[in-house]
Amino acid sequence: MNDARALAAQALDQVVRGGVSLRSAFADVAPRLADARDRALVSALLHEGARWWLRYDALLGRLLQKPLRGREPVVHALLVVGLVQLAVLGLPEYAAVAGTVEAVRTLKRPQLAGLVNAVLRRFLRERATLDAAAAADRALATAHPPWLVQQLARDWPDDVDAILAANNAPAALVLRANRRRTTPDALVARLLDAGHAAAAHAWLPDAVVLEDSTDVTRLSGYAQGEFSVQDGAAQLAPDLLDLRDGLRVLDACAAPGGKSAHCLERHALDLLALDRDAQRLAPMRENFARLGLGATITAGDAADPAGWWDGRAFDRILLDAPCSATGVIRRQPDIRLHRRAGDIERAAAEQAQLLDRLWPLLRPGGRLVYATCSILPRENADQVAAFLSRTADARARDGVPPRFGRAAGPGRQNLPGVDGMDGFFYAVVDKVA
Ligand SMILES: C[S@@+](CC[C@H](N)C(=O)[O-])C[C@H]1O[C@@H](n2cnc3c(N)ncnc32)[C@H](O)[C@@H]1O
Repeated sequence: MNDARALAAQALDQVVRGGVSLRSAFADVAPRLADARDRALVSALLHEGARWWLRYDALLGRLLQKPLRGREPVVHALLVVGLVQLAVLGLPEYAAVAGTVEAVRTLKRPQLAGLVNAVLRRFLRERATLDAAAAADRALATAHPPWLVQQLARDWPDDVDAILAANNAPAALVLRANRRRTTPDALVARLLDAGHAAAAHAWLPDAVVLEDSTDVTRLSGYAQGEFSVQDGAAQLAPDLLDLRDGLRVLDACAAPGGKSAHCLERHALDLLALDRDAQRLAPMRENFARLGLGATITAGDAADPAGWWDGRAFDRILLDAPCSATGVIRRQPDIRLHRRAGDIERAAAEQAQLLDRLWPLLRPGGRLVYATCSILPRENADQVAAFLSRTADARARDGVPPRFGRAAGPGRQNLPGVDGMDGFFYAVVDKVA
């Protein structure tokens, strides 16, 4: 089977019901699509299907007389894929409806072809009324889970609508030029030559913004390690760590290694890249090899240093903590399907434990940078404030550039889409000498 819509429906069902990540669902189907246009279509259907699932899944409740989700989950996912083609991707009506009806045959459900055709046509006829009904409900209109909308409304009452809109807006692709191999200007020139709209970032020294989304691994210079993909918000770590050649640095939650690699591109460091998830170490090793970087890569639980620490204090610690990832929903739309309200307290408890367990490993006079891609104060400003109040020799430093987001307790918080960047939090904490 190589019908793009049918494959997208199966993959989307895996994401929604199977709890599979969008990234691995797409990685599973991509090799079955020889044609680049089919790959691009499946990617768009899958990403937008996950992004808009909560809206169009609910809408199908109004469009179908008898629910399909339980009996025919893949056809139900196909209907969401059909609605997304019409309502989000703006594909021509005939192609979208005929292609989706064809896909139901590919899925060996020809008896449901008439139903799929009728539901999509009814949507086209009643769209204005259906849109008006959805507009009255913030969670439904923006396809977010109600618990998250309520949490954001409590945490960011003046910004909640902008955050929800940013999560549904396209995000430019941002690259990080590897200083050891090229410069942002040389990278921009190469991309422009290849016909891509690209520009150096206005204030991040290593960042290049690519307007059109493309498979970067096929771009010239990628295999030679000239650049990596990394959102601008994630490109602050080396500056905040105040690095110099020779420092001993711990990246406590390192995989897949984006921030470690950036630090190593800037300085010759004695860097330990640690991660609890051993499966994520191999891609990190490949990445470092591609970029021409050297580090010690170790599997271990950062909260249990006895398992991996040799007793020598670190000059710098980066804690890019596991978190709700609520700042990167625009790039990973499946987060809104997989995250649950109870995950936030669990993540906060883990973050607090990581801060407490890693702090003794920092030498007096050293620095810890705490970062998350969350926008929830519980994991960010409140988390670091609580750490400071229970840790006598920890001092917050006002080290994050004011250009980056807004002041948030002892750190700074960027909200998604602001200045084109992901939602991200940083705090800089020095240890009294
Ligand atoms: C936000 S990601 C890190 C991204 C990475 N710093 C980068 O820039 O590419 C969080 C990572 O923390 C790891 N992790 C979670 N809990 C951990 C623990 N207790 N010890 C070590 N690593 C942990 C996860 O496996 C995941 O790879």
